[in-house]
Amino acid sequence: MAGFWVIGNWKMNGRLQTGKELASQLLAVAAQCADRVRVAVAPAALHLHAVGSVLDNSAIQLAAQMASAHEDGAYTGQCSAAMLADLGVRMVLVGHSECRTELAQDDAVLRAQMQRIHEQGMTVVLCLGESLASYEAGQTLAVIERQMTVLHDWVDWSRLMIAYEPVWSIGTGKVASPEHIAAVHDHIHQRLRELGDAEAAVVVLYGGSVKPALMPQLLALSGVNGVLVGGASLDAEQFGQICMVVAEQALTD
Ligand code: PGA
Repeated sequence: MAGFWVIGNWKMNGRLQTGKELASQLLAVAAQCADRVRVAVAPAALHLHAVGSVLDNSAIQLAAQMASAHEDGAYTGQCSAAMLADLGVRMVLVGHSECRTELAQDDAVLRAQMQRIHEQGMTVVLCLGESLASYEAGQTLAVIERQMTVLHDWVDWSRLMIAYEPVWSIGTGKVASPEHIAAVHDHIHQRLRELGDAEAAVVVLYGGSVKPALMPQLLALSGVNGVLVGGASLDAEQFGQICMVVAEQALTD
């Protein structure tokens, strides 16, 4: 399990004080398992500075939920990758389904965001996943293939992670079967192999209603290198349990 990632996506939840409290509770979690599991959290952009101060010098990395596709300039309401890097952000989500849908982000926007993040030396966490309609139509792998075309001219594979998150599973409590998750992860690893010598370096996460009880099943799948956790990451106890399951598995490996 060495190198298994647990990343919390806090989305647009909480207030400044609750974010700082959650971060300090996570310091205790990290102290128990940081040698066996790699942990990051993505607070709302406005809370990055305060949460980053709490996590400073800890093993928990600071992540951001989104970066602008633009470098600088007249883009009201946006945050540039450089601004995020200034705050100590190490990785940035790109193409989360909530951004793809709510903010109508297309491939051109995602590619530009990836470029900006890369220029600032941060890691891209590219989120992929099929809608319920595509899942039911048996189109999952075709959707994943299409979404992965944004990687066609990507070169820095060591600063890329992929998160497979079936859209129908995000925040719904519905969980994909281990067979489905394994098949999609195998396919992603296969595509990465075809894109170059990418596969060795790229961490491929699973996300969608991840809870502590799901972890043993996920840890049994060889293609799953980590988890992206939404709702359960807002609860220090549940997030801590997820990290501890990984850490305990690492001891038995
Ligand atoms: P969830 O969210 O764990 O609440 O389903 C996952 C995500 O959106 O990254």
